[in-house]
Amino acid sequence: LVLILDFGSQYTHLITRRIRSLSVFSLCLNGTSSLQSITDLNPAVVILSGGPHSVHTPDSPSFPDGFLQWAQSNAVPVLGICYGLQLLVSRLGGEVRVGNTQEYGRMEIHVENPSALYPAEKVGHNQVVWMSHGDEAVTLPDGFNVVARSQQGAVAAIENPSTKFYGLQYHPEHFLFDVCGVAAGWKMEDVMEEEIKVINNTVGPDEHVICALSGGVDSTVAATIVHKAIGDRLHCVFVDNGLLRYKERERVMETFEKDLHLPVVCVDAVDQFLTKLKGVTDPEIKRKIIGKEFICIFDAFAQDLEKKLGSRPAYLVQGTLYPDVIESCPPPGSGRTHSHTIKSHHNVGGLPKDMKLKLIEPLKLLFKDEVRQLGRIMDVPEGFLKRHPFPGPGLAVRVLGDVTEGNALDVLRQVDEIFIQSIKDAGLYDVIWQAFAVFLPVRSVGVQGDQRTHSHVVALRAVTSQDGMTADWYYFEHKFLDDVSRKICNGVRGVNRVVQDITSKPPSTIEWE
Ligand code: XMP
Repeated sequence: LVLILDFGSQYTHLITRRIRSLSVFSLCLNGTSSLQSITDLNPAVVILSGGPHSVHTPDSPSFPDGFLQWAQSNAVPVLGICYGLQLLVSRLGGEVRVGNTQEYGRMEIHVENPSALYPAEKVGHNQVVWMSHGDEAVTLPDGFNVVARSQQGAVAAIENPSTKFYGLQYHPEHFLFDVCGVAAGWKMEDVMEEEIKVINNTVGPDEHVICALSGGVDSTVAATIVHKAIGDRLHCVFVDNGLLRYKERERVMETFEKDLHLPVVCVDAVDQFLTKLKGVTDPEIKRKIIGKEFICIFDAFAQDLEKKLGSRPAYLVQGTLYPDVIESCPPPGSGRTHSHTIKSHHNVGGLPKDMKLKLIEPLKLLFKDEVRQLGRIMDVPEGFLKRHPFPGPGLAVRVLGDVTEGNALDVLRQVDEIFIQSIKDAGLYDVIWQAFAVFLPVRSVGVQGDQRTHSHVVALRAVTSQDGMTADWYYFEHKFLDDVSRKICNGVRGVNRVVQDITSKPPSTIEWE
């Protein structure tokens, strides 16, 4: 295990993922965590991340007292990157001061001394790196050597060969294998086996587990692994709330039942949801109503099960991912907030307060791409794993205004299906993060078949993104847009105008409501 102590760098997730992509398991902890929580993990290597702070600022974050002594006496290598280097230097009695010049971006460093970081043949050579620092180390603690300097002469890499403490003012390559001798061997197959063991040790032989399936990747993969562990003591529910996409219910249920053999009940709650949404135009009120209805249905599902089984289900499966766990305790000054915007959206459905269920979160140490990998080895169909994200309130936030007005939902479903199918046909589905159509509550004048029409306008939205927090609108070729627009106006009754949304996030959000 490689442990990253996070001091608020934008790159902490990236470091964690990079290490995992080298088949070495890595975890990330808030840099100010207790010594006990660090040593409990028994890491083979610890990396101190960068961060936006200066060691001179009062209350700048630091690792706990005793950490370096523990690392040294257990021969655990420690690598400080950027702020991590400065922290290492200042905590060990060296001097860090505000740099004469700030160095940001692509730079060359000059390797001065042979070290574990750079073999002898690199000495005297230059290397291009990405630097980012204002402060610099001017006096090194006892036992440390300068390994490399920047063009301006600032310390860029340091090493204490006897304690195996290292520091870099830039992001390293090959540190784990070449310097620390870590062996690659972390595999998704082992993660699956391990997780199945944990679930089996947690859930008693007579206990039952419930799970709400949304049709998304996370809940599906989470349910699939729990099903592998405890079989049909897992009980899933899928709710058709009338706000699903074209043939979504049939398609999703088919995957659950035929491909994954998940024990799932489909609840038809179309009327229940649409009655409650009638006349509602405010997006946040729509979300609240939908969330509340989900809870009612979920509660009823649990009660039915209790009657059938003679005891209450004891556990609830949730598809919580690692970024949500990291985001729930960000280090100070990282600019990250406790309530991740996406996360709060995802809590649509919520949980009944009095259900007293314990949580099973089998994906809580995985990133999204790792969840996909896990799904892949459990035979979740590829097409399912790569589906675009779909919001909990479904089409309710894509029909602007009252969703029950006229046949808005039906029109939107047809338009959306044509758009998505065209994207798939053009081979663009996997390069786009999310694509969908939006139904606008306006009519415009058109002419169709020599007749004047006064029909609906629909908007097409397609974005690229890493995590949904920021996004860019996708540049389709004109020919593609022309074809889609034609297919929509010819194929969907009541639509005579198609527009494309060409705003990024920010200033817009991805969804329109
Ligand atoms: P926004 O519109 O906030 O969307 O830029 C970012 C990502 O979150 C999804 N989204 C939601 N997901 N419930 C959800 O489960 C919601 O209420 C919700 N609103 C937005 C959106 O589809 C995008 O992937």
